[in-house]
Amino acid sequence: MADPGIPGHRWADSTWAFLREGYPFIRKRCAAYGSPVFQTRLLGRRTLCLSGLEAAELFYDARRFVRTPTSTPAPLRNILLGAGGVQGLDGAPHARRKQLFLELLDKENVQRLTQVYEARLSEATARLPVGEAFECLPWIEALLCRSVCEWAGVATMSDQQMHRLTRRLASLIDGSGRLDWRMPAAWWRRKACEAEAARWIENCRRGAHPALPESPLHKLAQHRDEQGQLLAPRVAAVELLNILRPVVAVGRFLLFGLIELERQPRWRTSIARNEGAAWAFAEETRRFYAFFPMVAAFVRESFEWRGYRFDKGTRVLLDLFGSNRDAAHWKAPDSFSPERFGQCPMKTSVISQGGGEYTYHRCPGEPLTLSLMQATFEYLCRHLQWRLDVKAVDFQRLPMLPREAVPMTVTGHPVHEKTSA
Ligand code: HEM
Repeated sequence: MADPGIPGHRWADSTWAFLREGYPFIRKRCAAYGSPVFQTRLLGRRTLCLSGLEAAELFYDARRFVRTPTSTPAPLRNILLGAGGVQGLDGAPHARRKQLFLELLDKENVQRLTQVYEARLSEATARLPVGEAFECLPWIEALLCRSVCEWAGVATMSDQQMHRLTRRLASLIDGSGRLDWRMPAAWWRRKACEAEAARWIENCRRGAHPALPESPLHKLAQHRDEQGQLLAPRVAAVELLNILRPVVAVGRFLLFGLIELERQPRWRTSIARNEGAAWAFAEETRRFYAFFPMVAAFVRESFEWRGYRFDKGTRVLLDLFGSNRDAAHWKAPDSFSPERFGQCPMKTSVISQGGGEYTYHRCPGEPLTLSLMQATFEYLCRHLQWRLDVKAVDFQRLPMLPREAVPMTVTGHPVHEKTSA
């Protein structure tokens, strides 16, 4: 029997309220109840919603919560993540699969992929004509997709195929939070992406794909589970897409960062001149624009926290967006101020990509995300002058985006000398 003391409504379904309110949904209710947890129903299922950094600490205690293939709500699972991937594993199978991701995304690989990306970014930037507007997000997504495919060993595609892959991956990200007509199309694109990636895996295993033995594609194709079995091609494909898709998603953080560079132009000079400023700017962008709104798990064994009872098997959601704006931890949480991070890279409490240990479910792509963000902000602030036609970001939309497409116009190509802070 659930604890009647948890605020909220056990029987009332809030799915439509959540879709209508978007990102502030959990934070707003926690503030209204004066509690870091409340109960409701989402998609018909009883759910406890948690917000705040203390709640995040609880959520990332592996003894308390379990991930299963169904812990993530179906729309997100079917479109964004696919079936059989690392997100739905627990215990030893998770540890083994996660180790593969941590190796594929280690320091050396982060450096290699960042270098590939920097080369593509500088070529593409040099080709941009002065004075002509182009749409910012698809431009960045195409650069990221090309770079990650080249680094991963799957870049055997024509420009047209690369363009199609980029648009498909981008639509998995965009279609996953929306219960509307876009959903079937996004689901179909997920299936098409998986089929294509499964072919790369099978060709690689047969030696018919030119991926190098040390490439991520080759390592994924040859990865064996804890019973010594190769992954089913479809599962290996899901895991390959778990690398390609989120790299394309980094484009969203870049777009939000560019919007803030337009609003606070003094940061352009600061980033161009000072080592460390791009890091602070990237961290604040991740904190403020946490576009992956929440993560889900089930209670492993019943327990009590702060006098509230969490029953075994109950679904629990942790609010990433709201926890990044926890007023108990962040001063003026609703203002965008990179200054709050200082200039010296350090461990922070930003949980836009999950929290806890990397060996548990925290995003293994976090260092890569930061590296790509820093590289982009530094490169553009040092080598380009541009103007962005800034539109307000819609925090009700899942996943968040500006209300209209954001055009970018190059206005010049200056060079700043960098100095050490
Ligand atoms: C665009 C920026 C990114 C965001 C907002 C993001 C967000 C997240 C979040 C919220 C989680 C779930 C954490 C949890 O379940 O507790 C996650 C997990 C994961 N992310 Fe990311 N991520 C990003 C970039 C990346 C990148 C660049 C990669 C790989 C190249 C990546 C690969 C993964 C994988 C494989 C997992 C599953 C980890 C596990 O379940 O153990 N992500 N990410």
